[in-house]
Amino acid sequence: MTTTGTPPLPKAELHLHIEGTLEPETVFELARRHDVALPYASVEELRAAYDFTDLQSFLDVYYANMAVLRTRDDFAALASAYLRTCPEQGVRHVEMFFDPQAHTARGVAIADVIGGLTDAIEHHADDVSAGLILCFLRDRSAAEAEETLRAAEPYLDRIVGVGLDSAEVGHPPSKFTSVFERARGLGLKPVAHAGEEGPAGYVTEALDELGVLRVDHGIRAIEDDALVARLVRDRTPLTVCPLSNVRLACVPGIGLHPLPEMLAAGLNVSVHSDDPAYFGGYADANYAAVREGLGFTDDQLRTLAANSFTSSFLDDEAVQRLL
Ligand code: HPA
Ligand code: ZN
Repeated sequence: MTTTGTPPLPKAELHLHIEGTLEPETVFELARRHDVALPYASVEELRAAYDFTDLQSFLDVYYANMAVLRTRDDFAALASAYLRTCPEQGVRHVEMFFDPQAHTARGVAIADVIGGLTDAIEHHADDVSAGLILCFLRDRSAAEAEETLRAAEPYLDRIVGVGLDSAEVGHPPSKFTSVFERARGLGLKPVAHAGEEGPAGYVTEALDELGVLRVDHGIRAIEDDALVARLVRDRTPLTVCPLSNVRLACVPGIGLHPLPEMLAAGLNVSVHSDDPAYFGGYADANYAAVREGLGFTDDQLRTLAANSFTSSFLDDEAVQRLL
């Protein structure tokens, strides 16, 4: 959805959970197809449950809805429905997160998850470039993360990186030092959610212990001057998701989001949509939110969009081809 009447800025989407694009209508459609009982009588009732108070209250609904994703075709249809929207959003490249443990724990084979997502990526390759980032669920054990990485090894040619998501507080990055070391050894690019609800110290830990090349969210980094100086010096990308931060009450309102302060501090920030089916909109809605809610100028929006490409795992030549 554009509100300016001009074409949306070309951008890369670097913080998007593909399971977070599961729209309520699709939850009902797949539930009917697979005979899955839902605790909601209608799409409207489900949507009304999207009244989150914090990250955990969102994650409870997010994981429950995933029960309808059963087959390789379901994963292909999910990713296809998202990738189809990319051109109209100006999204030219996507590095999408997926949560294998949320599916294998329900008996879905990882081959079907990765196979389905890859089918969709190949199908839409002429319209949008896309890659996969395998996320470990940080509220589950490090041993389970190790098993998940082992199970994904036959598919490494289809995966660009590893990430860390789910309930942050109480699950510091250091819990996953060893699995990230192994992933880096396999040539996977490391990223992690840090400083969303958790403290700035988790961002430092993600850098020191996991060797992350990008920080997802990272909004609480602004609370630590030494950390800000380090992130500015290294031009470490921070993938910020304004609508998500508002809907999960990580910030008190869009007008109080720290993005202007982060940009002014010289941080390498870009704007993304996280779980757009749950948080009120896709890439363009997040750009509109910072323009309308924070008064960002066209120049500042262009900076955010340019940062999204340079913060991607594409090389310069590939970026030039997309512009
Ligand atoms: N934070 C942590 N885990 C997640 C998120 C998020 O914003 N979205 C989906 N899984
Ligand atoms: Zn996220």
